[in-house]
Amino acid sequence: MVDERRRLGYCKEKNIHMIKFLRFLLPAMLAAVMLLILNSKMPFRVTVHGIVNGRVIPRLFMSARPGHRRPTAGVINQTTLLSYAAIELGESKERQLIDRLLDISRARSISSCCRVTQRQKAFQEFHLVLRSWFQNKRFDQRVMTELGELVKAPLDFHYNATGILEIRPGQPYRSCAVVGNSGILLLKTHGPLIDSHEMVIRLKNARTDGFQDRVGSKTTLAFINSHTLHSCASKPECFCHPYGENIPIITYICQVLHFMDLAPCNASRKTPLLVTDARFDNLCGRIVKYYSLKNFVETTGKHPDKWGAAHEGPLFHYSSGMQAVMLALGICEKVSLFGFGKSPHASHHYHTSRMSELALHDYEAEYQFYHDLAAGSQDIPFLSEAGIKLPPLQIYL
Ligand SMILES: *[C@@H]1O[C@H](CO)[C@@H](O)[C@H](O)[C@H]1NC(C)=O
Ligand SMILES: *[C@@H]1O[C@H](CO)[C@@H](O)[C@H](O)[C@H]1NC(C)=O
Ligand SMILES: *[C@@H]1O[C@H](CO)[C@@H](O)[C@H](O)[C@H]1NC(C)=O
Repeated sequence: MVDERRRLGYCKEKNIHMIKFLRFLLPAMLAAVMLLILNSKMPFRVTVHGIVNGRVIPRLFMSARPGHRRPTAGVINQTTLLSYAAIELGESKERQLIDRLLDISRARSISSCCRVTQRQKAFQEFHLVLRSWFQNKRFDQRVMTELGELVKAPLDFHYNATGILEIRPGQPYRSCAVVGNSGILLLKTHGPLIDSHEMVIRLKNARTDGFQDRVGSKTTLAFINSHTLHSCASKPECFCHPYGENIPIITYICQVLHFMDLAPCNASRKTPLLVTDARFDNLCGRIVKYYSLKNFVETTGKHPDKWGAAHEGPLFHYSSGMQAVMLALGICEKVSLFGFGKSPHASHHYHTSRMSELALHDYEAEYQFYHDLAAGSQDIPFLSEAGIKLPPLQIYL
């Protein structure tokens, strides 16, 4: 009898749970069905979660359906895109910061009395390097034709002295491989092919140990951003050469304060540590932005002045890989790209497990640029108008 009552009570409770559950389930199912219908009819796609820093975040995302192009608000022509690509969103703020840093470093580098201290010397150097870099901060696409003088000549001087490679002064390198860090490298064994290039440029000090059959083992130039240099600077003697002490480094400055790391790191090396010309940075920025704007306008139908809000505004930046490719195009007869691209079967980087991409880059825009070059197009924004031609490029996937 008692058992029977217990059983009834239990059943009742179970029923209440069931009703509660259904009350939740039915609207959820209804919403899911509506979402499905919406998704198949609309020019955009709705997803209900996103992955941010490897964690699944419940969120509603709307993105343009690939291949579906909405009519653009008014017709946006090439001239308009080029003029928007020329706008640097963070420029005035950066200039203010540089002006302030130049003032401070000038003040601190002046000896008040007789002996120049170590600190004052460091500020002096910082001041000089920052000022000379800053003087070149403008748009001038001819920098593309000066890379032989700016970069190849000092590299050659070093290669000649160390015998790393046979040089032909005044002539481009015969073949260059730029090795990106995409996980797609692990899907093939391009190692020997990569090593067969005269010049092998690697990015962000990615290691090759343990991956030689996939990524090769030869390195003749390391291309890094100043964040990487900054983390090197915290190590004894600015250890920054996973490829050997003889391998030159070229860095672009992504934060002007990183100029502080330059002098001590340069002093601890016998091998060239070059900084990209600010005109070269400017040109790379404009080209990537042009492609990003073009994509944005074509896929969203929005006006280019809405682009900034969708691309991290002043934080938007080309990737290290893109600038390394541009460098190779300036100093090589032909360029091969490895490890540039994506695959659902590959991680973001071959040597780390990071899956996500940084939102401040637009890899899609950069791939489009590489694909135009691979297709033999000489109609590259900001270059074709100045009659600057680029060598052939091949993409290995
Ligand atoms: C491009 O578009 C702008 C603004 O819509 C217009 O003023 C300009 O004349 C156009 N240029 C060309 C070459 O069509
Ligand atoms: C390369 O090295 C050789 C021998 O050390 C020297 O004679 C030659 O001038 C060097 N060439 C250049 C371009 O530095
Ligand atoms: C590094 O040092 C060399 C030799 O002392 C110098 O010629 C070069 O300009 C320095 N590079 C930078 C980026 O300061």
